[in-house]
Amino acid sequence: MKSMEYREWLDKHVKIGKEVLWVTQKEVEEMGIPRETVFELTEKALAYHGKKEVEMPAKIGIHPHTQPNTLMHAMPGYIPAEYIACLKWGGCFPENRQKFNLPQTSGLMVYNDHESGIPVAVTDAVWITKMRTAAVSMAGAKYLANPKTEVAAQIGCGVQGTEHVKFMELALPHLKEILIYDVYPAAMDALIKECQPSVKAKIVKTNSFEEVVKGAETVFSTSTITSSPSPKIKDEWVRAGQTLILVDMHTLYDDKTMKRADKYLVDSIEEHVYFESIGYYPHGLPEIYGETGEVVAGIKKGRESKDELIVDNNTGMSVEDAMVVKHIVGLALERKIGRLLPL
Ligand SMILES: NC(=O)c1ccc[n+]([C@@H]2O[C@H](COP(=O)([O-])OP(=O)(O)OC[C@H]3O[C@@H](n4cnc5c(N)ncnc54)[C@H](O)[C@@H]3O)[C@@H](O)[C@H]2O)c1
Repeated sequence: MKSMEYREWLDKHVKIGKEVLWVTQKEVEEMGIPRETVFELTEKALAYHGKKEVEMPAKIGIHPHTQPNTLMHAMPGYIPAEYIACLKWGGCFPENRQKFNLPQTSGLMVYNDHESGIPVAVTDAVWITKMRTAAVSMAGAKYLANPKTEVAAQIGCGVQGTEHVKFMELALPHLKEILIYDVYPAAMDALIKECQPSVKAKIVKTNSFEEVVKGAETVFSTSTITSSPSPKIKDEWVRAGQTLILVDMHTLYDDKTMKRADKYLVDSIEEHVYFESIGYYPHGLPEIYGETGEVVAGIKKGRESKDELIVDNNTGMSVEDAMVVKHIVGLALERKIGRLLPL
């Protein structure tokens, strides 16, 4: 479909400039979009980013002092080839669960007609964030980990950790065991209850950072981002051949481990350099080998030998949300999900 044809299709369903489509969190969840689809869309987003075929400035944000380590980020993204222009406005408030019985991650997406700039849809961003973040980690695993990995680890068993475990076998089809660890044992029990029925690999609780890291070849971490790292994983527990995939920046790892990795990748160099400038990497960023999207696009090599220690540090990019929200808006309009509101 050409750009103007897509616009005409949108305008047939939402009167551009007069109406806006509103789709709730429950409606997004109930669309039943398979993980395979999100994985495919996310890989495409990473490849566009790797080839520099997107416009995506580094996130800007505010940090309300109502709780420690809060962030609210504005994340605009433009993918010309897909006719997508949108914005995510998302927050992370780590104490929400204890203080308000609310999740730490929240947000909305605004989806625009890229020809006129007019907003055409607003959707919840929680499901999108949960799914595409896990999918990015899996893209990291697909290109950077040993594809025959039999034991993986999941550190942090909240919303992200649970979704990561549900996604893992798409990237690592030979998994026999998934070791898990969380500072709250109840979070591990809840993850097993939620995931084990559909996950083939056996999910096994561990008792310490040492046990979980030493026991696995590919290690995912989705704990809490703290503005300065508070390492829990000693450098000597990390060995050659492992792949460490982080959505929680350097929170858990020793700076030495990050700096001795044979390959250290990030999703967006611009974003991580910005985070460094506001204090998130007090010891400085390691030398960056490349961006995750460059490996997905085939511009840079992924894993080249079984002994490489590889770190992939992804803080999330708007172009990933963008690919998924376009799919959601399309399905909502086709299936008449959501409601049209006056603009
Ligand atoms: N990179 C991205 O694109 C992206 C996107 C969304 C969220 N995140 C980050 O993912 C992380 C998890 O988000 P969530 O929605 O799953 O939150 P959540 O509150 O549902 O889960 C966090 C889990 O980590 C556990 N945890 C906290 N500190 C820990 C520690 N030191 N060691 C082990 N476990 C620990 C908690 O007990 C909890 O189970 C947050 O840091 C968030 O900022 C990243």
